Amino acid sequence: MIATVTLNPSLDKTVTVEQLVIDETNRWTSFRRDPGGKGINVSRVIHELRGKTIVYGFIGGVDGEILKQLLQQQGVPFDFTPIKGEVRSNLIITNMETCCQTRIDAPGPHISKGELESLISKIIHTEPKPSFLVMAGSIPPGVPDNIYARLIEEAKAQGVKTVLDSDGQWLREGIKAKPTVIKPNVHEAEDLLGTKLKDEASIIQAAKTLVNQGIEVVAISRGPDGLIIATDTQTLSVIPPQVEISSTVGAGDSAVAGMVLSLTRGDTIEDACRLAVAAGTATTLTPGTELCRRQDVESLLPLVKMKRL
Ligand SMILES: Nc1ncnc2c1ncn2[C@@H]1O[C@H](COP(=O)(O)OP(=O)(O)OP(=O)(O)O)[C@@H](O)[C@H]1O
Ligand SMILES: [Mg+2]
Repeated sequence: MIATVTLNPSLDKTVTVEQLVIDETNRWTSFRRDPGGKGINVSRVIHELRGKTIVYGFIGGVDGEILKQLLQQQGVPFDFTPIKGEVRSNLIITNMETCCQTRIDAPGPHISKGELESLISKIIHTEPKPSFLVMAGSIPPGVPDNIYARLIEEAKAQGVKTVLDSDGQWLREGIKAKPTVIKPNVHEAEDLLGTKLKDEASIIQAAKTLVNQGIEVVAISRGPDGLIIATDTQTLSVIPPQVEISSTVGAGDSAVAGMVLSLTRGDTIEDACRLAVAAGTATTLTPGTELCRRQDVESLLPLVKMKRL
Protein backbone atom coordinates (compact mmCIF):
# COMPACT_ATOMS: atom_id res chain seq x y z
CA MET A 1 0.00 0.00 0.00
CA ILE A 2 1.29 3.44 -0.96
CA ALA A 3 -0.18 6.36 0.96
CA THR A 4 -0.06 9.81 -0.58
CA VAL A 5 -0.52 13.16 1.16
CA THR A 6 -2.01 16.18 -0.63
CA LEU A 7 -2.22 19.07 1.81
CA ASN A 8 -3.52 21.46 -0.83
CA PRO A 9 -5.78 19.50 -3.21
CA SER A 10 -7.72 21.27 -5.91
CA LEU A 11 -10.63 20.83 -8.21
CA ASP A 12 -9.13 21.66 -11.60
CA LYS A 13 -11.63 23.20 -14.02
CA THR A 14 -10.46 23.20 -17.61
CA VAL A 15 -12.28 25.08 -20.35
CA THR A 16 -11.36 24.97 -24.01
CA VAL A 17 -12.00 27.97 -26.26
CA GLU A 18 -11.39 28.20 -30.01
CA GLN A 19 -9.62 31.53 -29.66
CA LEU A 20 -9.15 33.40 -26.39
CA VAL A 21 -9.96 37.09 -26.71
CA ILE A 22 -9.03 39.17 -23.68
CA ASP A 23 -11.60 41.69 -22.45
CA GLU A 24 -14.40 40.04 -24.48
CA THR A 25 -16.99 37.33 -23.76
CA ASN A 26 -15.58 33.98 -24.86
CA ARG A 27 -17.54 30.72 -25.23
CA TRP A 28 -16.09 27.40 -24.20
CA THR A 29 -16.33 24.36 -26.44
CA SER A 30 -15.54 21.86 -23.70
CA PHE A 31 -15.46 21.88 -19.91
CA ARG A 32 -14.03 19.27 -17.58
CA ARG A 33 -13.34 18.88 -13.89
CA ASP A 34 -10.43 16.84 -12.59
CA PRO A 35 -9.23 16.03 -9.10
CA GLY A 36 -5.98 17.99 -8.75
CA GLY A 37 -2.99 18.13 -6.45
CA LYS A 38 0.30 16.32 -6.80
CA GLY A 39 -0.26 13.58 -4.22
CA ILE A 40 -3.68 12.86 -5.71
CA ASN A 41 -2.08 12.57 -9.16
CA VAL A 42 0.47 10.09 -7.79
CA SER A 43 -2.36 7.96 -6.36
CA ARG A 44 -4.36 8.18 -9.61
CA VAL A 45 -1.39 6.85 -11.58
CA ILE A 46 -0.63 4.10 -9.05
CA HIS A 47 -4.27 3.05 -9.29
CA GLU A 48 -4.13 3.08 -13.11
CA LEU A 49 -1.06 0.85 -12.92
CA ARG A 50 -2.94 -1.60 -10.66
CA GLY A 51 -1.12 -0.65 -7.46
CA LYS A 52 -2.73 -0.25 -4.04
CA THR A 53 -2.94 3.32 -2.80
CA ILE A 54 -4.82 5.72 -0.53
CA VAL A 55 -5.08 9.51 -0.65
CA TYR A 56 -4.80 11.63 2.51
CA GLY A 57 -5.31 15.38 2.65
CA PHE A 58 -7.70 18.18 3.52
CA ILE A 59 -11.11 18.57 1.94
CA GLY A 60 -13.96 21.03 2.37
CA GLY A 61 -16.84 22.81 0.65
CA VAL A 62 -18.98 22.00 -2.38
CA ASP A 63 -16.00 21.63 -4.70
CA GLY A 64 -14.50 19.26 -2.15
CA GLU A 65 -17.58 17.02 -2.46
CA ILE A 66 -17.21 17.06 -6.27
CA LEU A 67 -13.54 16.17 -5.94
CA LYS A 68 -14.41 13.17 -3.75
CA GLN A 69 -17.06 12.06 -6.26
CA LEU A 70 -14.54 12.23 -9.10
CA LEU A 71 -12.03 10.13 -7.15
CA GLN A 72 -14.78 7.66 -6.30
CA GLN A 73 -15.76 7.36 -9.97
CA GLN A 74 -12.14 6.61 -10.79
CA GLY A 75 -11.96 4.03 -8.00
CA VAL A 76 -9.14 5.83 -6.16
CA PRO A 77 -9.48 5.27 -2.37
CA PHE A 78 -9.20 8.27 -0.04
CA ASP A 79 -9.48 9.14 3.63
CA PHE A 80 -9.63 12.94 3.74
CA THR A 81 -9.60 15.17 6.80
CA PRO A 82 -12.57 17.56 6.71
CA ILE A 83 -11.90 21.30 7.02
CA LYS A 84 -14.10 24.34 7.50
CA GLY A 85 -12.70 26.12 4.43
CA GLU A 86 -13.37 25.35 0.77
CA VAL A 87 -10.97 23.27 -1.31
CA ARG A 88 -9.23 25.47 -3.90
CA SER A 89 -10.24 25.61 -7.54
CA ASN A 90 -7.62 26.00 -10.24
CA LEU A 91 -8.84 27.40 -13.53
CA ILE A 92 -7.17 26.28 -16.76
CA ILE A 93 -8.00 27.86 -20.12
CA THR A 94 -6.88 26.00 -23.23
CA ASN A 95 -6.73 28.20 -26.30
CA MET A 96 -7.16 25.92 -29.36
CA GLU A 97 -5.76 28.51 -31.77
CA THR A 98 -2.39 28.75 -30.05
CA CYS A 99 -2.50 25.47 -28.05
CA CYS A 100 -1.48 27.63 -25.04
CA GLN A 101 -2.75 26.80 -21.59
CA THR A 102 -3.34 29.65 -19.14
CA ARG A 103 -3.61 28.62 -15.49
CA ILE A 104 -5.01 30.64 -12.65
CA ASP A 105 -4.16 28.82 -9.42
CA ALA A 106 -5.67 29.51 -6.02
CA PRO A 107 -3.59 29.65 -2.82
CA GLY A 108 -5.88 27.28 -0.90
CA PRO A 109 -7.97 27.57 2.25
CA HIS A 110 -6.60 28.41 5.68
CA ILE A 111 -6.02 25.29 7.77
CA SER A 112 -6.56 25.53 11.53
CA LYS A 113 -4.24 23.97 14.11
CA GLY A 114 -6.91 21.45 15.07
CA GLU A 115 -7.45 20.41 11.45
CA LEU A 116 -3.71 19.95 10.97
CA GLU A 117 -3.34 17.84 14.11
CA SER A 118 -6.26 15.63 13.11
CA LEU A 119 -4.68 14.98 9.68
CA ILE A 120 -1.32 14.13 11.26
CA SER A 121 -2.99 11.83 13.78
CA LYS A 122 -4.94 10.06 11.01
CA ILE A 123 -1.76 9.42 9.03
CA ILE A 124 0.26 8.31 12.03
CA HIS A 125 -2.37 5.92 13.33
CA THR A 126 -3.27 4.30 10.02
CA GLU A 127 -3.18 0.48 10.08
CA PRO A 128 -1.75 -1.50 8.39
CA LYS A 129 1.26 0.73 7.85
CA PRO A 130 1.90 1.69 4.22
CA SER A 131 5.18 0.70 2.56
CA PHE A 132 5.68 4.31 1.38
CA LEU A 133 4.30 7.69 2.35
CA VAL A 134 4.44 10.12 -0.59
CA MET A 135 4.22 13.83 0.22
CA ALA A 136 3.77 16.05 -2.80
CA GLY A 137 2.90 19.60 -3.70
CA SER A 138 2.36 22.91 -1.99
CA ILE A 139 1.45 23.61 1.61
CA PRO A 140 -1.71 25.66 2.30
CA PRO A 141 -1.87 28.77 4.51
CA GLY A 142 -1.83 28.00 8.24
CA VAL A 143 0.35 24.89 7.89
CA PRO A 144 4.00 25.37 8.94
CA ASP A 145 6.72 24.88 6.30
CA ASN A 146 8.27 22.06 8.35
CA ILE A 147 5.14 19.84 8.16
CA TYR A 148 6.79 17.50 5.65
CA ALA A 149 9.83 17.12 7.92
CA ARG A 150 7.51 16.25 10.80
CA LEU A 151 5.63 13.64 8.75
CA ILE A 152 8.91 12.16 7.48
CA GLU A 153 10.19 11.80 11.05
CA GLU A 154 6.94 10.17 12.19
CA ALA A 155 7.01 7.79 9.20
CA LYS A 156 10.65 6.89 9.82
CA ALA A 157 9.91 6.07 13.45
CA GLN A 158 7.36 3.53 12.17
CA GLY A 159 9.65 2.05 9.51
CA VAL A 160 7.70 3.65 6.65
CA LYS A 161 9.74 4.90 3.67
CA THR A 162 9.04 8.37 2.33
CA VAL A 163 9.02 10.32 -0.92
CA LEU A 164 9.04 14.11 -0.98
CA ASP A 165 8.15 15.95 -4.19
CA SER A 166 7.72 19.64 -3.48
CA ASP A 167 9.56 22.85 -4.22
CA GLY A 168 11.01 26.05 -2.74
CA GLN A 169 10.99 26.40 1.03
CA TRP A 170 8.75 23.31 1.44
CA LEU A 171 11.35 21.07 -0.19
CA ARG A 172 14.22 22.81 1.63
CA GLU A 173 12.56 22.37 5.03
CA GLY A 174 11.36 18.83 4.24
CA ILE A 175 14.73 17.39 3.26
CA LYS A 176 16.11 18.33 6.68
CA ALA A 177 14.36 15.13 7.88
CA LYS A 178 16.05 13.11 5.09
CA PRO A 179 13.25 11.46 3.12
CA THR A 180 14.05 8.16 1.37
CA VAL A 181 13.41 9.54 -2.13
CA ILE A 182 13.17 13.00 -3.69
CA LYS A 183 12.38 13.83 -7.32
CA PRO A 184 12.96 17.50 -8.01
CA ASN A 185 13.00 18.67 -11.62
CA VAL A 186 16.11 20.55 -12.75
CA HIS A 187 14.63 23.92 -11.88
CA GLU A 188 13.65 22.77 -8.36
CA ALA A 189 17.10 21.22 -7.82
CA GLU A 190 18.75 24.48 -8.93
CA ASP A 191 16.62 26.40 -6.48
CA LEU A 192 17.38 23.92 -3.71
CA LEU A 193 21.14 24.00 -4.22
CA GLY A 194 21.34 27.67 -5.22
CA THR A 195 23.30 26.91 -8.38
CA LYS A 196 22.64 26.64 -12.13
CA LEU A 197 22.65 23.07 -13.49
CA LYS A 198 23.56 23.78 -17.08
CA ASP A 199 24.70 20.36 -18.28
CA GLU A 200 24.47 16.66 -17.48
CA ALA A 201 27.68 16.72 -15.43
CA SER A 202 26.32 19.41 -13.11
CA ILE A 203 23.01 17.54 -12.66
CA ILE A 204 24.92 14.36 -11.75
CA GLN A 205 26.99 16.34 -9.27
CA ALA A 206 23.85 17.87 -7.76
CA ALA A 207 22.22 14.45 -7.32
CA LYS A 208 25.37 13.11 -5.63
CA THR A 209 25.55 16.14 -3.34
CA LEU A 210 21.99 15.46 -2.16
CA VAL A 211 22.76 11.75 -1.62
CA ASN A 212 25.72 12.81 0.52
CA GLN A 213 23.31 14.85 2.61
CA GLY A 214 21.61 11.58 3.60
CA ILE A 215 18.81 11.14 1.03
CA GLU A 216 18.86 7.52 -0.20
CA VAL A 217 17.55 8.02 -3.74
CA VAL A 218 17.79 11.33 -5.59
CA ALA A 219 16.10 11.49 -8.98
CA ILE A 220 16.38 14.75 -10.88
CA SER A 221 13.89 14.82 -13.74
CA ARG A 222 14.72 16.60 -16.98
CA GLY A 223 11.56 16.56 -19.09
CA PRO A 224 12.32 15.00 -22.52
CA ASP A 225 15.82 14.03 -21.31
CA GLY A 226 14.39 11.70 -18.65
CA LEU A 227 16.00 11.34 -15.25
CA ILE A 228 19.38 11.37 -13.58
CA ILE A 229 19.29 9.18 -10.51
CA ALA A 230 21.86 8.74 -7.78
CA THR A 231 22.12 6.45 -4.76
CA ASP A 232 25.24 5.81 -2.66
CA THR A 233 26.23 2.92 -4.95
CA GLN A 234 25.16 3.96 -8.44
CA THR A 235 24.36 6.83 -10.78
CA LEU A 236 22.17 6.33 -13.84
CA SER A 237 20.79 8.35 -16.70
CA VAL A 238 17.38 7.09 -17.84
CA ILE A 239 16.17 8.34 -21.20
CA PRO A 240 12.66 8.09 -22.68
CA PRO A 241 11.96 7.47 -26.35
CA GLN A 242 10.98 10.49 -28.45
CA VAL A 243 7.22 10.86 -28.49
CA GLU A 244 4.68 13.31 -29.82
CA ILE A 245 3.73 15.45 -26.84
CA SER A 246 0.13 16.32 -26.12
CA SER A 247 0.49 17.88 -22.63
CA THR A 248 3.22 17.51 -20.02
CA VAL A 249 0.94 18.37 -17.07
CA GLY A 250 1.38 15.71 -14.37
CA ALA A 251 4.42 14.05 -16.01
CA GLY A 252 6.53 14.53 -12.88
CA ASP A 253 3.80 13.17 -10.61
CA SER A 254 3.46 10.14 -12.89
CA ALA A 255 7.21 9.56 -12.72
CA VAL A 256 7.01 9.60 -8.90
CA ALA A 257 4.11 7.10 -9.05
CA GLY A 258 6.01 4.73 -11.36
CA MET A 259 9.12 4.84 -9.21
CA VAL A 260 7.42 4.29 -5.86
CA LEU A 261 5.15 1.54 -7.20
CA SER A 262 8.15 -0.33 -8.56
CA LEU A 263 10.16 0.12 -5.35
CA THR A 264 7.18 -1.14 -3.32
CA ARG A 265 7.15 -4.29 -5.46
CA GLY A 266 10.78 -4.85 -4.48
CA ASP A 267 12.22 -4.04 -7.93
CA THR A 268 15.76 -2.79 -8.46
CA ILE A 269 16.52 0.92 -8.76
CA GLU A 270 17.08 0.35 -12.50
CA ASP A 271 13.58 -1.08 -12.97
CA ALA A 272 12.05 1.61 -10.75
CA CYS A 273 13.64 4.30 -12.94
CA ARG A 274 12.42 2.60 -16.11
CA LEU A 275 8.84 2.56 -14.84
CA ALA A 276 9.19 6.17 -13.62
CA VAL A 277 10.30 7.39 -17.04
CA ALA A 278 7.74 5.26 -18.92
CA ALA A 279 4.90 6.59 -16.73
CA GLY A 280 6.11 10.21 -17.00
CA THR A 281 6.44 10.00 -20.76
CA ALA A 282 3.11 8.15 -21.14
CA THR A 283 1.44 11.09 -19.41
CA THR A 284 2.78 13.47 -22.06
CA LEU A 285 0.75 11.52 -24.65
CA THR A 286 -2.59 12.46 -23.09
CA PRO A 287 -4.20 15.91 -23.38
CA GLY A 288 -4.60 18.57 -20.67
CA THR A 289 -4.65 17.35 -17.09
CA GLU A 290 -5.19 13.70 -18.08
CA LEU A 291 -2.56 11.33 -16.73
CA CYS A 292 -1.04 8.18 -18.24
CA ARG A 293 -2.83 5.12 -19.59
CA ARG A 294 -1.55 1.72 -18.52
CA GLN A 295 -1.26 0.46 -22.10
CA ASP A 296 0.96 3.40 -23.07
CA VAL A 297 3.19 2.80 -20.04
CA GLU A 298 3.54 -0.86 -20.99
CA SER A 299 4.40 -0.12 -24.60
CA LEU A 300 6.92 2.62 -23.70
CA LEU A 301 8.66 0.55 -21.00
CA PRO A 302 10.88 -1.54 -23.33
CA LEU A 303 11.86 1.64 -25.24
CA VAL A 304 13.36 3.39 -22.19
CA LYS A 305 17.16 3.54 -22.39
CA MET A 306 19.55 3.46 -19.47
CA LYS A 307 23.15 4.63 -19.17
CA ARG A 308 25.34 3.81 -16.19
CA LEU A 309 27.44 6.81 -15.18
N1 LIG B 1 8.76 16.39 -23.45
C1 LIG B 1 8.84 15.16 -22.93
N2 LIG B 1 9.12 14.07 -23.70
C2 LIG B 1 9.21 12.85 -23.18
N3 LIG B 1 9.08 12.59 -21.86
C3 LIG B 1 8.82 13.62 -21.03
C4 LIG B 1 8.69 14.96 -21.52
N4 LIG B 1 8.43 15.79 -20.45
C5 LIG B 1 8.40 14.97 -19.37
N5 LIG B 1 8.64 13.69 -19.70
C6 LIG B 1 8.71 12.51 -18.81
O1 LIG B 1 8.19 12.81 -17.54
C7 LIG B 1 9.21 12.77 -16.53
C8 LIG B 1 9.07 13.90 -15.56
O2 LIG B 1 9.04 15.12 -16.28
P1 LIG B 1 9.47 16.56 -15.74
O3 LIG B 1 10.93 16.62 -15.55
O4 LIG B 1 8.86 17.51 -16.70
O5 LIG B 1 8.76 16.58 -14.31
P2 LIG B 1 8.18 17.81 -13.48
O6 LIG B 1 8.78 19.08 -13.93
O7 LIG B 1 8.33 17.44 -12.05
O8 LIG B 1 6.64 17.73 -13.87
P3 LIG B 1 5.32 18.17 -13.04
O9 LIG B 1 4.89 19.45 -13.67
O10 LIG B 1 4.34 17.06 -13.25
O11 LIG B 1 5.69 18.33 -11.60
C9 LIG B 1 10.52 12.80 -17.31
O12 LIG B 1 11.53 12.15 -16.59
C10 LIG B 1 10.14 12.07 -18.60
O13 LIG B 1 10.13 10.68 -18.41
MG1 LIG C 1 7.14 17.99 -10.40
